[in-house]
Amino acid sequence: MSGFIREDADDAPLDMLLKPFSSIGHDWMLVTAGNGTGRADWNTMTASWGSFGVMWNRRTVTCAIRPTRHTYSFVEREPLITFSFFDDTRRKALQVCGSVSGAEVDKAAAAGLTPVLLEPGALGFAEARLTLACRKLYWQDLDPANFLDQAIEKNYPERDYHRMYVCEILRSYRTPRED
Ligand SMILES: Cc1cc2nc3c(=O)[nH]c(=O)nc-3n(C[C@H](O)[C@H](O)[C@H](O)COP(=O)(O)O)c2cc1C
Repeated sequence: MSGFIREDADDAPLDMLLKPFSSIGHDWMLVTAGNGTGRADWNTMTASWGSFGVMWNRRTVTCAIRPTRHTYSFVEREPLITFSFFDDTRRKALQVCGSVSGAEVDKAAAAGLTPVLLEPGALGFAEARLTLACRKLYWQDLDPANFLDQAIEKNYPERDYHRMYVCEILRSYRTPRED
């Protein structure tokens, strides 16, 4: 995909490009699944819960998606998902993608984002500063019986417990910076 620097996970300076707490928890990310750029081919949502790490000796992103999200069925369907990170100038786009549903709204139009097929089955956005193309390795539904701190339950008035996905980072796509 022209316009992006494409690197295998082993070659990408991930520690320099991402911060373990603020990149997800403060800056937020888009979780996207799709196999084409058409309106019905993909969906995305904003996420601020998740983590970077290492599992089974692979570099991973773990995310948490409630089954009530329209994005959930796309993530279930696709072997690959992407995590996209943006500069502050795109904060509004992340707010839009986190407050309306792709089941009802054309998110690309509403958020001013341009869907781009980075590689087969990996849908990203032209405006992202960095996108990680990842392969799902594992999922598990949160079981409230295992909450050791009962305060966690307050996050689930609808009992729509997240499905967690551990995803292996395959490649990164980033825009050349001017500095
Ligand atoms: C800052 C922020 C963070 C969010 N983090 C998550 C998350 O980690 N997991 C989740 O399931 N929903 C999260 N959401 C909610 C979804 O982004 C939101 O419900 C979205 O509209 C779902 O869109 P969809 O129905 O098109 O999938 C977050 C929303 C915002 C604004």
